[in-house]
Amino acid sequence: MSIKNKIITEKLPKHIAIIMDGNGRWAKEKGKIRTFGHKKGVETVRKIVEASSEIGIKYLTLYAFSMENWKRPKYEINALMTLLVQAINREARNLMKNDIRLLAIGNLEKLPKKVNKKFHEIIEKTKNNKSLNLVLALSYSSRWEITNAVQKIAKEIKNGNLNLENINEETITENLTTSKIPDPELLIRTSGENRISNFLLWQIAYSELNFCGKYWPAYEKEDFYKAIYDFQNRERRFGKTSEQIK
Ligand code: IPE
Ligand code: IPE
Ligand code: MG
Repeated sequence: MSIKNKIITEKLPKHIAIIMDGNGRWAKEKGKIRTFGHKKGVETVRKIVEASSEIGIKYLTLYAFSMENWKRPKYEINALMTLLVQAINREARNLMKNDIRLLAIGNLEKLPKKVNKKFHEIIEKTKNNKSLNLVLALSYSSRWEITNAVQKIAKEIKNGNLNLENINEETITENLTTSKIPDPELLIRTSGENRISNFLLWQIAYSELNFCGKYWPAYEKEDFYKAIYDFQNRERRFGKTSEQIK
């Protein structure tokens, strides 16, 4: 029996974020080049988006390319950018058919023009879709995002539109690229690495973390359901005592 049947629909996390890691190692284990792993990783993306839609997740954020990933060999970056455009071209129709809205967070201006344009086109096309919000983190880093937010807030103060005393958590949240997106309740990382790699540092303050040993290309819908099931069996206390929660 699939663990999917054990998931309680009323207790679904509204937002799941995933650090999709391990494409390169997966390929290497198979004696293939790293880009083969990225290609296979796109198939996993399709499966997990489908699973999210099926069970009714509202927000799915996927860490697709970090700011630090720009330091990789040029051929790998080029291959990733080509794959991104191919995937988005191929999936555009499915996004519309399945009522999925595409969003992007990150410094998209650093992307090649063609990639940037394609993304904006599909973001615009899907903007009225309502079932699942698929958020791609592209050329994203959390410290870049927070630095940006600080600059925006400082500018507001300088222009006299904001008082220093009125800065609160809300002000910071509103100035992040995720301003209209709720915080993820669950963060998954594949590949066995137990780190965050500059992803959503502000937003995951109280997220439940799920580290899975499988490489991303080998990640299955069943692993995803298991992560959600585990999440539903955790006690989220938010600083309170267990007795206060019950
Ligand atoms: C994740 O897999 C995909 C991206 C970061 C773009 P990696 O490419 O990091 O694969 P490993 O971690 O080196 O195996
Ligand atoms: C994190 O993976 C970024 C993405 C999944 C896009 P990395 O493979 O780049 O992270 P590190 O270098 O192992 O921390
Ligand atoms: Mg990696």
